Amino acid sequence: MARLDPHSYADDAHPQVRSFAWKARLDFTARVVHAELTLRFEHPAEGPLDLDTRDLTIVKVTTPDGRAIPYVLHPPEPILGARLALTLPPGTPFLTVTYSTAPDASALQWLEPVQTAGGKLPFLFSQCQAIHARSVLPLQDTPRVRVTWEAEITAPRELRVLMAAASLGREEDGGVCVERFAMPQPIPPYLFGIAVGDLASRDLGPRSRVWAEPSVLDRAAWEFASVDAMMSAGEGLFGPYDWDRFDVLVMPPSFPYGGMENPRLTFVTPTLLAGDRSQVRVIAHELAHSWTGNLITNANAEHFWLNEGWTRYAELRIVEALEGDEVAALHAALGVRALERTLASFKTQGRLGLTRLRTHLAGIDPDDAFSEVPYEKGCLFLQALERHVGRPRFDAFLRTYMDRFRFGVITTEAFLTLVSEVLPGALEAVDAPRWIDHPGLPEGATPPRSARLERVLALGARLPDADAATAMSSTEWQLYLEALALPAPLELCRGLDARFELTAQGNYEVLVAWLCVALASGHDPAIPRALELLGEVGRMRYLKPLYRSLLDRPDTAPRAREAFALHAAGYHPIARTVLQAMMPPVVAAPPGV
Ligand code: BES
Ligand code: ZN
Repeated sequence: MARLDPHSYADDAHPQVRSFAWKARLDFTARVVHAELTLRFEHPAEGPLDLDTRDLTIVKVTTPDGRAIPYVLHPPEPILGARLALTLPPGTPFLTVTYSTAPDASALQWLEPVQTAGGKLPFLFSQCQAIHARSVLPLQDTPRVRVTWEAEITAPRELRVLMAAASLGREEDGGVCVERFAMPQPIPPYLFGIAVGDLASRDLGPRSRVWAEPSVLDRAAWEFASVDAMMSAGEGLFGPYDWDRFDVLVMPPSFPYGGMENPRLTFVTPTLLAGDRSQVRVIAHELAHSWTGNLITNANAEHFWLNEGWTRYAELRIVEALEGDEVAALHAALGVRALERTLASFKTQGRLGLTRLRTHLAGIDPDDAFSEVPYEKGCLFLQALERHVGRPRFDAFLRTYMDRFRFGVITTEAFLTLVSEVLPGALEAVDAPRWIDHPGLPEGATPPRSARLERVLALGARLPDADAATAMSSTEWQLYLEALALPAPLELCRGLDARFELTAQGNYEVLVAWLCVALASGHDPAIPRALELLGEVGRMRYLKPLYRSLLDRPDTAPRAREAFALHAAGYHPIARTVLQAMMPPVVAAPPGV
C-alpha cells in the first residue's frame, strides 16, 4: 500500500477509477450542487477504496443494484481534505455516491448578478487545479488516475451551462434546462471544469469559438482573432491537436488566474481584453498546455515544472512563430525579471526549497507553493538544453517526448531518463542536477537579448520622450517599469503620470506594474486607483503584488486590510485563502485598553 501522490489519499493497492458519470442539479439560492457521481472501474472491483473529498456532505454510497456500500468519512486534514474510505463488496463494476457540495466549496465560485458584466443573472464557475476537484467530486484526485466522463447538469433555464468537454445538447423543461456533456479523452481530475451563466459565443475558426457574456463578446472576438493561426502553429511545432476543439471562455472579473487550460474550453480572465491584443500570449500559453500538461501531465505537484516550464517554453515558440523573435524575446525578458524578483523574495522568506525545479511538497499546499519558478526556471532549463543540442535535435526530442508519454503522466526522473537516452551528454553539459535539485538560478543561465529589449533597458530611469513612448508596445512599457530600481525618483513618477497618464492605463499588466512602482516610490496619487483595483478584479497575479505593496507601507497597510475585509467575499475561495495568508495577524489590544 502506497500513496500515489503527496496531495491525494489515492492508494496504488486500490482499484483505479476509469470513468465517471456526474448528474448534478445546481441550486443557486443555496449555493449547493446536489449530485450523484457514478465511478466505474475497468474490471469489477472489491475491497478498500479511498477517495478524496473536501467539505462534501455524503448522503449514501450504493452498488448498481442499490445495496449500501459501507464507508467512513474521516475527519478533514487541513490540506488534503477528508478521506472517504469505502469497502467494496466483491464484483463491484461501479458505484454511486449521492452527495452535495458546501456553499464555500474551494473550487467553486457562485457569483451574484452584480459581479457579472450583464448584472442580471448569477454565474457559477469551477477552478479545480491544483487539488480542488475533490470539493466538487469525490474521486481519486491525482493526475495519476486519468478518467473519461459524462455529465448531465440541471440548471435554471435562463442560464447556459458550459463544460470542458464536448457538448451533447440542451433540453428545456419548465423553469430548468438540462445540458449533457462527454469528455472522451482521459483527463487528470484537475482539468474538470464547469461554468454557468448568461453566455453567448462567436466562431473564431473551424475548430474554435469564444464564449463570453453578451456585452463582452465583440471585444473578446476581436482580441482573440488569432486563435486559429495559433492552433496551426502549435500543431506544426508539437504534433496533432488531440482535443478536437479549442474554445475560449471569458470569465467574470473575479476569475483568480490569467487562464486555465481546461481541455476544449480554456477559461480566461477578462483582463486579457486589453484592446491591443497584447495579452494573447496567455491564450498561446493555455493552448500550449493542450500538449504540455493536458496530454502529458505532471504526476503530482512536485513535478509541476514539467507542466508549466514546458508550457512556458511552448508558448514562447508559438509567439515566435506568429510574431517573430523580437516580440518573443521581450516576453521572455519579462519572465526572467519576474523570476529574479521571485527568487529574491523566496530567499528573504527562507523558502529556498521552493526555488528548485523538483520540489518536496508533503505538508505544503500546492496553492501556497505556486510561483514563477516552475514556469521561468523550467523554461530556462529547457532552453539551455535546446541551446546545447541545437534546435533541430531539440525539436526531434520534443516529438519523441510527445509520442512516448501522450495521455500519461511524467515525473522529473522519467523526463531526465528520456533526455539522457535521446540527447546523450546534454544533461551533463548543462549541469542538470544544478537546475533540478538546487535552489536559485545556475550561473550562465542566459537571459534573452534583442535590439528592442536593449532599447527599453537603455532608458534606465529616464522619462521616455514622446516619440520613444508612442513607439513602445504595452510589453515594452511593462519592461521599462519593471526594470526601474525602487524607490524610483518622485520626479520621474510625477513626470510619467503627467505625460502618459499611467494611473488611468487600461492595460492591466502595465497598470499593475505602474501602481507597484508608484506605491513603492511614494507617488500617492496612485493609491486610490490601487485600492479600487482590489475590488475590480480577482486575478491573483494582480492582487498579490498590489496587496504586498500596500502592506509594505505603514501608512497604506491599514487601508489594504480594510480593502481585504470589504472585498474578500467577492474573491474566489482560492484567492481568498492565498490573500488571507498574506495579511499580518492583527495584534489584539491588551484587555482594559
Ligand atoms: N495552469 C495554470 C494556472 C494554474 C496553475 C491554476 C496552478 C492553478 C494552479 C495556467 O496555465 C497558467 O499558468 N496561467 C497563467 C498565465 C500564463 C500566461 C503564465 C496565469 O494565470 O497568469
Ligand atoms: Zn500554465
